[in-house]
Amino acid sequence: MLPQAGLAGMMGMAGSSNVQGEDQKKLDLVANEVFKNSLRRSGQCCILITEEEEEPIFIEEPHRGDYVVVFDPLDGSSNIDCGVSVGTIFGIYKAKNPGSGNYSLEDVMRPGTEMVAAGYCMYGSMSYMMITTGKGVAGFTLDPTLGEFVITHPKVQVPSRGPIYSINEGNAVNWDAATKKYVEACKAGTYNNGKPYSLRYVGSMVADVHRTLLYGGIFMYPADKKNPKGKLRVLYECFPMAMLVEQAGGKAITGTQRSLETMPDSIHDRAPIYLGSKEEVELIEMFKREM
Ligand code: AHG
Ligand code: MN
Ligand code: MN
Ligand code: MN
Repeated sequence: MLPQAGLAGMMGMAGSSNVQGEDQKKLDLVANEVFKNSLRRSGQCCILITEEEEEPIFIEEPHRGDYVVVFDPLDGSSNIDCGVSVGTIFGIYKAKNPGSGNYSLEDVMRPGTEMVAAGYCMYGSMSYMMITTGKGVAGFTLDPTLGEFVITHPKVQVPSRGPIYSINEGNAVNWDAATKKYVEACKAGTYNNGKPYSLRYVGSMVADVHRTLLYGGIFMYPADKKNPKGKLRVLYECFPMAMLVEQAGGKAITGTQRSLETMPDSIHDRAPIYLGSKEEVELIEMFKREM
């Protein structure tokens, strides 16, 4: 679907907007339909939560199963028309009363610590898939000749440090003091023997997190004056990425607490996030406590 997007007239705007207040891309809608239909046909799901639909989708018999799937069908969609990597992010909860036939929002509005699985696909120069079921992170690469994902990263480990910081510097004027102090320290190399960090920011969360998982460093989307709760969505962006990073030996915080321990207040709730190498995240955590 994605590699031929440019040829299949799939680029550009759909002419509609979503509950997030974003103008939807054609591929946002196509990806949303593809995943909804596949998940429904799997017979494993009872509730679907997608970035592109305002309300939860309750799956009826005979297709109903015991899993809640929260997903961002197309992450980084602002990058589609210029061919930069985009992806899909998902998290899975097991229903609180499996087999009961009665499912409600109580099966969804839960801390990320109750997720049983999480992962993402990234569609770029290669198509990658990173998955965790709570026993570490495994990475797969699509072999187009086979049409299968083959395991290429059997046990992903985030380096404990990494001289790469990833943040939208365009928001710098709105950052809180701790974020400003940490970014200044990255630029000065204060905690890196005077050697400045590199800034890498793709603008697709999947791509920025994928690089952070493999190379180390820190990805940040702070709250700021413009976005008091940050921009990224708790259920289908922050929680899955936080679970993956923790399972790979890294850390993920909102700034004041562990991301996975937060409780979403709505299905499209947002939260600030700082994730990546343990020592990098602990540094900003220290600044947050001090300031
Ligand atoms: P989506 O395309 O699913 O709406 O997500 C976009 C998100 C995320 O992918 C990325 O990290 C962030 O938006 C970039 O936001 P800015 O353009 O404000 O930096
Ligand atoms: Mn979007
Ligand atoms: Mn997204
Ligand atoms: Mn999206």
